[in-house]
This record gives sequence, structure tokens and C-alpha cells, in this order.
Amino acid sequence: MPMSASTIITGTGRYLPPRIVTNFDLEKIMNTTDEWIRQRSGIRERHYVEPGTGSSDLGFEAAVRAIEDAKSERSEIDFIIFATLSPDYYFPGNGVLIQHKLGLGTIGALDIRNQCSGFIYALSVADQYIKTGTFKKILLVAAEVQSTNLDYSDAGRDLAVLFGDGAAAVILEPNRSGDGRGVLSTHLFSDGKHASDLWMVHPSPKNKPTFYPEFIANREYYPRMDGRNVFKNASERMPEAVTIALEHNRLTVEDVALLIPHQANDRISQMVARGLKIPLEKVARNIDRYGNTTAASIPIALDEAAKEGRIKRGDIVVLTAFGSGYTWAAAVIRW
Ligand code: ACO
Repeated sequence: MPMSASTIITGTGRYLPPRIVTNFDLEKIMNTTDEWIRQRSGIRERHYVEPGTGSSDLGFEAAVRAIEDAKSERSEIDFIIFATLSPDYYFPGNGVLIQHKLGLGTIGALDIRNQCSGFIYALSVADQYIKTGTFKKILLVAAEVQSTNLDYSDAGRDLAVLFGDGAAAVILEPNRSGDGRGVLSTHLFSDGKHASDLWMVHPSPKNKPTFYPEFIANREYYPRMDGRNVFKNASERMPEAVTIALEHNRLTVEDVALLIPHQANDRISQMVARGLKIPLEKVARNIDRYGNTTAASIPIALDEAAKEGRIKRGDIVVLTAFGSGYTWAAAVIRW
């Protein structure tokens, strides 16, 4: 009997657009302060694209880096998964756009729309394909361009200051060595009764006509958020998901080398750490430099941790996310 495969990450890469926008830059265009943003979220700066750059462009740059990091040839990739809430177009999805940009063969390309949980949802899909032997080298890209549709008026400033643009990618392959490395488990959750806590309702194909003057006049095409509900639920759901994931693998927080929570807000990350009784030194926190990059936030932090030598072969790395939907998730990886 051949050894059953686990899914390992053989390469990571990230790409942030060069333009840095500090809290002081935001002070010049909206009614906010550096102090308010730092105190409430821990964010100091974020990256914004120049108009004309889409999330598929950021994803392309990240993918090139991940493929190189995995010492792979583009021709070896046999499946694409693209997670984003900000695709270039309504349709088609970003998966096919990156397939074309990378010059890949006519391989399958799947789009994932699970907002801040998108990376872990995508990882769980990739894991099943690799474990069953369906695919041997999956490119998973997560990328967001959010800066082009943020409401800098008082009605949207709670949300506008939090988000940034960015991308990261990973390469996933089977590991049949029996050394125990790889994705140990993924755990996915949702509760749609909170859909309106964080959403963007217009334009909506359920309206005829889909585009009408009132929603534009009322600025209803911007994302809206009930920040307090999101804060409360994110702080509770992420520790809950991590606890379930660790128990599933008969592990404890002492076994964890690095926890990578979705970078929603540094105060949420601190609450998650407190809830799990895990020291902050073991928690990835880079929101000060990038803001909230939604699906891209976990793989950006993962790439940083890997490149900085913060995680070593055999380490237990735990990912957790929470976001619009609500959806939330956790994954345990032996690196
Ligand atoms: N600058 C200055 N003042 C602001 C800003 C801003 N950018 N935004 C809101 N305010 C004002 C409000 O208008 C309000 O003023 P008022 O008291 O005169 O009415 C005051 O600040 C306090 O507003 P609150 O909403 O009560 O502030 P709160 O302490 O709840 O913090 C925040 C708001 C930061 C959004 C918080 O609720 C939060 O972090 N929520 C989580 C949101 C989040 O992480 N979303 C990310 C997306 S989802 C995800 O990734 C999990």
C-alpha cells in the first residue's frame, strides 16, 4: 500500500503594491486621526494600488514569487484556486485571469468567495484534492484591492481606515514521506444570520435595473459594517475554532509555535491570544504595516514568518480567520 499523502506548502510569496498610505495621509482626506486609528486597530499604514491595478495583477506578482520559492516550473501547476472578495470583474473570476497571465495550460481554475476566511476555505479545498491524488501542484492565490471602493465620509470612516490592498500565494504539493508534515486538519464554520453586519449590497443583480440612481446618490455601493458586532464575534469565534482544531489533533496551545490569526484588527488578535492563553510572542501581528487585507492577510503573514525563519520544519502552525458572512475557520499545519 503506498503511503497516503498529506498536503505540504512548498513555496510562499507575497506582493504589496508600492504605494504606502499612512494614517497621517488619511488625516488629509477624511475626518480621522492617527491616534484614533492606532488605538482602535493598531494600524499605522497600509498599501494602496494605483488605479488600473486589479487583484489579479497583485495575485500574479505573488504567484510568481511563490512558484519561484517552491523551485517549481509554471508548467507543473495542475490546478488554481483564487480567493478574493474584490475580483477584477463580476465575471469571469480571477482564477482564469491568472491562468492566462501566468501562461498556464488549460487547467482548472476555481474562485473562492469567503472574504476574510477565504484563504483557509481555499486551503481546505486544496487539501482534499492533494490528499486524494487528484492534483499534484496547486497554486493558491489570495489577493485584494479594497482601496478603490472605500467610503471616506463619516458614514464609512470606521471601515475605510481598516482596509488595505495586497496579495500572497502558496504552492501545495503531496508529501508521502510519512514524516508527519503537512496540513493536519481544517475546520470551517458559517452563520449567515449575520450577513448584514459586514456587507456590500449594491450593485445587486436581484434589482432590476441593477444600477439605479438612488443607490448611487445614497452612496449605498460602499461596504458597511457593524463594527461592534464584528469585533465581539471575531474575538469569540476565532479562539473557539482554534480550540476545536487543536483538540481534533490532540494538541494544546503549548504545542503551537506560531498562531496566525486573520489580521482584522490588532485588538481582536490580542483578544484571541488572551482567549487561548497563548503568549503574544507566538502570535503573528503585522496589521500595523498592511491594515486588513482580507483573504490575503493570513498568507502574507505566513510568507513573512517563513522568510524571517520564525517557523521551522516540523513546527505546529495554526491559522484562524473570521469575516463577513459570518464565516470563520481554523487550520493546523505541521510545517
Ligand atoms: N476616525 C475617527 N473617528 C471615528 C472613525 C475614524 N476612522 N470611525 C468611527 N469613528 C467615531 C464614530 O463615529 C464614533 O463617534 P461618536 O461616538 O461621536 O458616535 C466613535 O468613533 C466611536 O465609534 P465606535 O464605532 O463606537 O468605535 P469602536 O470603539 O466600536 O471602534 C471599530 C470601531 C474600530 C471599527 C471597532 O468596532 C472594530 O474594530 N470592529 C471590528 C471591525 C473589524 O475588524 N472589521 C474588519 C473586517 S471583518 C474582519 O476582518 C473580521
